[in-house]
Amino acid sequence: MASINLLETSAAIFCFLIIYYLFFKKPHGQLLRDWPVLRMLPGLLVEFHRIHDFSVEILEISGLTFQFKGPPFTGMDMLVTVDPANIYHIMSSNFSNYIKGPEFQEVFDVFGDGIITTDSELWKNLRKSYQAMFHSQEFQRFSVSTMTSKLKDGLVPLLNHFAEEGTPVDLQDVFGRFTFDTILSLITGSDPKTLSKEMHEDESAKALDDVGEGILQRHVKPKFLWKLQNWMGFGQEKKMKEADATFDRVCAKYISDKREEITKSQGIIDGDSQDLLTSFMKLDTTKYKLLKPSDDKFLRDTILAFILAGTGTTASALSWFFWLLSENPQVVANIRQEITNTNLSRTGNVQEDSDKLVYLHGALYEAMRLYPPSSFGRKSSVQSDVLPTGHKIDANSKVIISQYALGRMRAIWGEDALQFKPERWILGNGSLKHEPSFKFLAFNSGPRTCLGKHFAMIQMKMVVVELLQNYDIKVIKGQKIAPVLGFILSMKHGLRITITKRCTA
Ligand code: HEM
Repeated sequence: MASINLLETSAAIFCFLIIYYLFFKKPHGQLLRDWPVLRMLPGLLVEFHRIHDFSVEILEISGLTFQFKGPPFTGMDMLVTVDPANIYHIMSSNFSNYIKGPEFQEVFDVFGDGIITTDSELWKNLRKSYQAMFHSQEFQRFSVSTMTSKLKDGLVPLLNHFAEEGTPVDLQDVFGRFTFDTILSLITGSDPKTLSKEMHEDESAKALDDVGEGILQRHVKPKFLWKLQNWMGFGQEKKMKEADATFDRVCAKYISDKREEITKSQGIIDGDSQDLLTSFMKLDTTKYKLLKPSDDKFLRDTILAFILAGTGTTASALSWFFWLLSENPQVVANIRQEITNTNLSRTGNVQEDSDKLVYLHGALYEAMRLYPPSSFGRKSSVQSDVLPTGHKIDANSKVIISQYALGRMRAIWGEDALQFKPERWILGNGSLKHEPSFKFLAFNSGPRTCLGKHFAMIQMKMVVVELLQNYDIKVIKGQKIAPVLGFILSMKHGLRITITKRCTA
């Protein structure tokens, strides 16, 4: 009898120890337990609601590179790195070995064959043709006049309305509409006018938010699961399908309207108002052999790539920037002083004097260091490789670079990495401090560097100068400030503010 009791007690203690070990005790120095079979997935799911900050913690504790292991046959294994030497290797020196890859295209399938999702020759054709358009005199003139008119005839009257009414407004929503109208005018030549007093919900903007969240979820769900959900049409995958249909419908209308316009004008379009869609429809296919300007699907994917690249990104950067300003009034005073010193108030010409606004440039970079609009990048290896840090990469494996975590690493940016300090970007002689793009990755690095960087910086400077010169903005106290769990790092609950006109006399 005594021996049975002893056996039972020993079995109970043994079970207790196993349960304690499995459920409560994490291995020293690790944030994710490696379980049998499920590997690190349970821990990741528990932390998913704060995935951005969790990636900061895990990368800091693991010395900037971390190997995630998922359950077998789910394709979830990935190397996560923010080590600048690895980033340079992946993005530049061994660029051809790290592609977006077929899996990326599957996860981002809504965007079809646009520049963001493609690789190799098709990507090269797209990039070269975009570069040629971006550098053309006509497009530069058209983009400056579009930006200026959207600001003066769209954003300013709307802000004046909110200032007169004294009603709270979600500034991120306003910026989203402003960048959306600007980019759509630039691409299609017609203004969707989402920036109006009525603030109607725009179906494409909502579809973009749904897609952003869906894509992040696809990164942390086994592939068979999200594929099944998509096939059955439920949960976030249902929203993804609806968003896809919305994009098809909206783009089809833009394309047919443009074809009609070109036919009516008999091909003669004013050079200074040449939008991207018109340029694309007239592309020289002898130069860009893989592009199909007469194919609606090709034009749809082109429109979407620009909406994806140029709307949420700039709106997110501006929103986090104004939130950071509300927490740092001295920075507001410094920017206002710089505007006065640069004599912008007299000329009002931000695009020409944009290079002189060094402190503002630094402040915008500093905001994007802490809140990079594109929160992470993803690559797939073609052949096996060894990274500068010594980590081995198998062929066809997944590498994630977290821009969010990169900007917050103390090992890279110093002990004050989490503080908002525009001065970080200013040299003793007052000029802008250059940081290599593999350390400050907000606009990407290497051959796939953002094509709209210059455009976005000018647009943001124009908005900031206009707002700080003419308005006082108060962020409403007590609201929740948190990032969205999407690949575009918007503010989850928006940014509620009140706005008043400044007396500048
Ligand atoms: C603050 C604003 C912006 C930020 C932070 C930003 C950031 C980025 C990043 C990180 C990428 C790389 C994406 C990837 O490969 O996965 C990218 C690519 C790109 N961006 Fe931007 N972007 C901004 C605004 C814009 C604007 C306004 C435009 C267009 C007018 C634009 C056009 C592009 C294009 C065409 C690419 C694709 C480049 C390629 O793959 O070769 N971006 N951008």
